[in-house]
Amino acid sequence: MAQAINVEDLNIYYSEFLAVENVNVTIQPRSVTALIGPSGCGKSTFLRTLNRMHEVIPGAYATGSVEIEGANIYGSGVDPVNVRRRVGMVFQKPNPFPTMSIRDNVLAGVKLNNQRISRSTADELVESSLRGANLWEEVKDRLDKPGMGLSGGQQQRLCIARAIAVKPEVILMDEPCSALDPISTLAIEDLIHEMKQDFTIVIVTHNMQQASRVSDRTGFFNIAGTGKPGHLIEIDETEKMFTNPENKQTEDYISGRFG
Ligand SMILES: Nc1ncnc2c1ncn2[C@@H]1O[C@H](COP(=O)(O)OP(=O)(O)OP(=O)(O)O)[C@@H](O)[C@H]1O
Ligand SMILES: [Mg+2]
Repeated sequence: MAQAINVEDLNIYYSEFLAVENVNVTIQPRSVTALIGPSGCGKSTFLRTLNRMHEVIPGAYATGSVEIEGANIYGSGVDPVNVRRRVGMVFQKPNPFPTMSIRDNVLAGVKLNNQRISRSTADELVESSLRGANLWEEVKDRLDKPGMGLSGGQQQRLCIARAIAVKPEVILMDEPCSALDPISTLAIEDLIHEMKQDFTIVIVTHNMQQASRVSDRTGFFNIAGTGKPGHLIEIDETEKMFTNPENKQTEDYISGRFG
């Protein structure tokens, strides 16, 4: 199920503005890759090209290729909706559908993909997804209550349950803990740790402790100045990146000597 992602010669644009230049990287399956770097260097932009969410912004496009399981998701005839089913995304701010129950939130992605499922299959899927997101015990007695009635940390786990319900191969997370308290953050980090058995995970974080706790590999993006494109400077085993990086820019950033 979990797949490697091969990115080749990826250039990412907002109209004429080249936001991220020439990324070449392989993201390992069944592992957690953390992306770090200063604000505006293109981490979110890069992440969104991995499931074709970037091009949803008017004028936004990318050149180069992103291969999952050997097939370019930017190839002709590829349906971006199908790509987004295979590559799920969890955002910075928990975004459950406000009018939907907890149960319907979990099933929202499945229904969007026009998959017809019986009541009993749906019940099983709701339970397994909520268990997968470590939320089942907390909500099993109120599945028909609104998703918005949960705490921030629970809402984020609900969004993770919604993402895993469609059985993706890859899960992208853009600063998933930045709106959460420390306890909820640890709960999500534990969850990410468990999830890598089944999924390829890419997480953007500004928290370097989090990157070192949760990821197997870490990539450092940087930007030479305003209006310049971001670059992937270095990517390696997380332990190496935080103790003995190859690149001076990485070293300066992780040791706080940046800027
Ligand atoms: N919708 C957009 N339209 C035009 N330019 C954009 C858009 N979104 C981002 N950018 C630009 O692309 C560059 C990269 O932005 P991006 O949001 O990817 O950075 P980031 O590394 O995620 O930053 P942060 O850590 O603050 O989230 C920035 O120069 C930003 O202004
Ligand atoms: Mg961002």
